[in-house]
Amino acid sequence: MSFLTRKKSMDLAGVGEAQRLKPTLSWPHLLALGVGGIIGTGILTLIGVGAGKAGPAVILSFAIAGLICACAALAYAEMATMIPTSGSAYTYSYVVLGEALAWVIGWSLILEYSLVVSAVAVGWSGYAAPLLEAWAGVPMSLMRGPELGGIVNLPAIFIIAVVAGLLIIGTKESATLNAILVVVKTIALAVFVAVALPYFSADNLEPFMPFGFPKSGEAGAEVGVMAAAAIIFFAFYGFDAIATAAEETKNPSRDLSIGIVGSMLLCVIIYMGVAVAAVGALSYTQFSNSPEPLALIMRQLQQPGVATFLAATAVIALPTVILAFFYGQSRIFFVMARDGLLPESLAKVSSRGSPVRITIFTAVIVAVIAGLIPLEEIAALANAGTLAAFVAVSVCMLVLRVRAPEMERKFRTPLAWPVGIAAILGCTYLFFSLPTQTQFYFLVWNVLGVLVYLAYGMRKSRLAKA
Ligand code: ALA
Repeated sequence: MSFLTRKKSMDLAGVGEAQRLKPTLSWPHLLALGVGGIIGTGILTLIGVGAGKAGPAVILSFAIAGLICACAALAYAEMATMIPTSGSAYTYSYVVLGEALAWVIGWSLILEYSLVVSAVAVGWSGYAAPLLEAWAGVPMSLMRGPELGGIVNLPAIFIIAVVAGLLIIGTKESATLNAILVVVKTIALAVFVAVALPYFSADNLEPFMPFGFPKSGEAGAEVGVMAAAAIIFFAFYGFDAIATAAEETKNPSRDLSIGIVGSMLLCVIIYMGVAVAAVGALSYTQFSNSPEPLALIMRQLQQPGVATFLAATAVIALPTVILAFFYGQSRIFFVMARDGLLPESLAKVSSRGSPVRITIFTAVIVAVIAGLIPLEEIAALANAGTLAAFVAVSVCMLVLRVRAPEMERKFRTPLAWPVGIAAILGCTYLFFSLPTQTQFYFLVWNVLGVLVYLAYGMRKSRLAKA
């Protein structure tokens, strides 16, 4: 079989009875898992970047990005119950679309997971830095990247080192801790909305759409509702965590639909509330460049206590988002190496159950990125990788509907064709709404990926040998 067409079989992708995971999770667990991975730097920090690009119409950007993400999430749920093994979008693509495309998607996932780690670390630092300055006297120039007039973003590097250390010792996400932090994060955002809403002034929403709807403007500084939506998209993903737990759910059709759709809906509602409260309480121009916009809004509203509370919850809760994506990254490496597309040594797991070498290697790279590159650029490139994966998952869902209509689907995407096509077109539109520069970097990343594949995976692939 040619490398373009060779596919893993469904059976291969399936897991033997003995290795099946026990179905112990129910929808509240999945809801917590989903919301835990979703609420992070997107809503806490990128809301400022989005408002700078869309003005008050960033509210629309949230709605658009959320809707597109929800469509893709439904496709994810269907694929996750059909092929409940690790590797998510990469594995689905390998089974449905063939090795070459699967490689591209796997390579995109590596980009996504690594850069989300960097981006959330920078977001964490944005909230941690003022606390560190006030409490420990650390100078700001050591806590902001060059774009904000600093030298290097040391707190971002620090938190990556801490999380990498935890992973190396063998920490996994703890469901209980995650659930507690989900509640903490949700309360923090609810407090923000409750405190900011009374300051709502319609004047702050004028003009509503100062930069127009589609992406426009000079390369590197593109604005408009869609340019903002393409960045805000970052705030909505992270529910892949639920997809990977598909195998462990007691009642997949009920639990997955409530878990995935529920966590998306919940986040859309919370995010819309936060967005309306933020742009209504203060002119967006005052917080669009802030590394800690929600805390800044609170200080401007003379609510310093709430500002500190928000910053503290961000500092406590964001590391689990970093941990989840860092862990996901090592799993992708692991599955790709198991398929022979990456060297086995990359996925070698220590006695404590974590791939030490690749964790350190990844940590160094993402720490350098987090230390020096602006959040917006990191998030945009992470989004590019994620959008590619979402398109692939939606395509896989529709292709299987045609190719294997009779196969059992424990979760069926409602209105599969309209939803699937909306996800594909929506993600594509978001991709082209990203900064042109980001699209170029994504292309470079993929050219690099194809070269690695031609030099290594194409010949070493387990399927090629078989
Ligand atoms: N959705 C996650 C966040 O906003 C990646 O941090």
